[in-house]
Amino acid sequence: MDLGLTGKVAMITGSGSGIGRATAVAFAGEGAKVVVSDIDVAGGEQTVRTIVDIGGEATFIQCDVSKSADVQALVKGTVAKYGSLDCAFNNAGIEGIVALTPEYPEDEWDRVINVNLKGVWLCLKYELEQMIKQGSGAIVNTSSIAGLIGQAGFSAYCASKGGVTQLTRTVALEYAKSGIRVNAVCPAGVETPLTQRIGKYYETHADLLNLLASPIPRMAQPEEIARNVVWLCSDVNGYVTGTLMTIDGGFTAQ
Ligand SMILES: NC(=O)c1ccc[n+]([C@@H]2O[C@H](COP(=O)([O-])OP(=O)(O)OC[C@H]3O[C@@H](n4cnc5c(N)ncnc54)[C@H](O)[C@@H]3O)[C@@H](O)[C@H]2O)c1
Repeated sequence: MDLGLTGKVAMITGSGSGIGRATAVAFAGEGAKVVVSDIDVAGGEQTVRTIVDIGGEATFIQCDVSKSADVQALVKGTVAKYGSLDCAFNNAGIEGIVALTPEYPEDEWDRVINVNLKGVWLCLKYELEQMIKQGSGAIVNTSSIAGLIGQAGFSAYCASKGGVTQLTRTVALEYAKSGIRVNAVCPAGVETPLTQRIGKYYETHADLLNLLASPIPRMAQPEEIARNVVWLCSDVNGYVTGTLMTIDGGFTAQ
């Protein structure tokens, strides 16, 4: 199916690794011009090289999503380079440490909330400014099953992703009449550096899989999230807004 994304401009935060990188490559595969963004320059530049190697168009803009000036510069830089902002994937995120709530350090709470929740809010704020001018746009936020259910040891992460869930619904309602759609993806375990880092808190791979145990007995590959993000951004989904798409091997069906 032609998703109609040829020549569209897609901007992806946290695309120097994992789900973001796979999504940047998937957008390029559909003919979109891609702005790769990350706090990590080396990872972002690697994603650009991967896209260029498959014949796609991409550029890198460094951005720390928790910093307002960086996010404003990212949106401005995207429009200066490619003329518009058609699709935005607000995906940058961190897991924080794994600890029970009384032991969870306050500075770590602030770090997780600032990147995962304030970061998505800042991205929405400045992306929307541009999309309102255009009268069109599609945004996908990365929430998580942790934005739908609780997970012991992950208080800051769950609170941040629950916030992303509610931001998604709220902003979708605010702009439903303005040609701008806002959705979220809610993955369970995905094989990325993030899950490898979480794995260090568990004694065995089996313990980690237990935390992430889905009825489909494996983790997702980043490409399995990427395909759905690209699909949600396509105009073939012109009636889909405010939805929280679980991509979780059946986890939340249990
Ligand atoms: N991997 C999973 O199992 C899983 C499940 C559900 C949701 N998620 C979410 O998916 C998103 C991507 O995670 P991933 O698994 O690909 O992890 P990852 O660690 O592979 O990639 C995350 C990227 O975000 C970047 N980043 C971190 N802080 C940033 C900041 N302040 N500003 C800009 N970029 C920053 C990192 O440099 C990295 O490139 C995150 O929001 C994560 O919470 C992941």
